[in-house]
Amino acid sequence: PRPLVVDTDPGIDDAFALVLAAHSPEVDLRALTTVFGNVGLESTTLNARRLLALVGREDVPVAAGAARPLVYPQPPRAALIHGDDGLGGQGASLPTPGAEVDPRPAVEVLADVLRRADEPVTIAPIGPMTNIALLLASYPELKPKIERLVVMGGGLEIGNITATAEFNIWSDPEAARRVLVEEDVPVVLVPIDLTHRCAVDSEWLDTLANSGPVGESLVGLTAPYRANYRKALSRDAMALHDAVALAEVIQPGILRCERMAVEVECGVGPTRGMVIGDRRNHSTNRVGREIEVAVDADLDALRAFLLDRMGSSR
Ligand code: BDR
Ligand code: CA
Repeated sequence: PRPLVVDTDPGIDDAFALVLAAHSPEVDLRALTTVFGNVGLESTTLNARRLLALVGREDVPVAAGAARPLVYPQPPRAALIHGDDGLGGQGASLPTPGAEVDPRPAVEVLADVLRRADEPVTIAPIGPMTNIALLLASYPELKPKIERLVVMGGGLEIGNITATAEFNIWSDPEAARRVLVEEDVPVVLVPIDLTHRCAVDSEWLDTLANSGPVGESLVGLTAPYRANYRKALSRDAMALHDAVALAEVIQPGILRCERMAVEVECGVGPTRGMVIGDRRNHSTNRVGREIEVAVDADLDALRAFLLDRMGSSR
């Protein structure tokens, strides 16, 4: 199995992504590192531990990382969608964690996993990219030990937290720019343009809820999130953003990617946190760095894969 670290801010779709990773034999989950984001760091760290307890994987270390972005803190804005506790107000319905938090900072745990690994490690950042920017800045010599970063973030044609920006990038644009543009580590970016198209409907959620206790617990977290997406998508469906990125980690190639030059707007103003994808392959004056951006998938096959994996432990 491919070694994997997930850097996460659970978060309802993070919860789905973590269950997917824990249930997939193709990957070897070496650690979870947490970051502020959907809610504060204390809550995201507790939620990561609760979710590992839910899937019986408390052998996986959890280490807490950044409690704020590199430069400009923002007032929290996501609690309406993810609930005050980050898990739809239902976090206490999950098993109480038995394992302690790893006392080391997230960046040290990431560095340690990379150093010890005998093959390159995939990192899946599915929250603000503060920890990852700090890792690359602190330990540049470990970059060759990173297989690739499969990042959930950005929106090329749409925003969610603002008209132009997606939440993870907007939460720490300077960190995102460091990772996506300034560094040279291979990146696959999974933006909301695609994750919205992969949204799952109530029939999918009902099937998951009926698949067993883990599926039932996951769906039990989704009430405020579903209500938000019913409005955002104008239909009874919700986006599983982070789980779509994890699907690409588990089955590389399940998403169709296009190579394009990407830049992140770090100015303070209405376009802060916007991701610009420059597809003008002929142009000689493109900005940013060329990375892979996920643009399409066999949507029905992807939904079936997610349902099958999340519903059953193997
Ligand atoms: C991203 O923002 C968070 O609210 C979700 O967990 C996901 O990582 C989607 O824009
Ligand atoms: Ca997330």
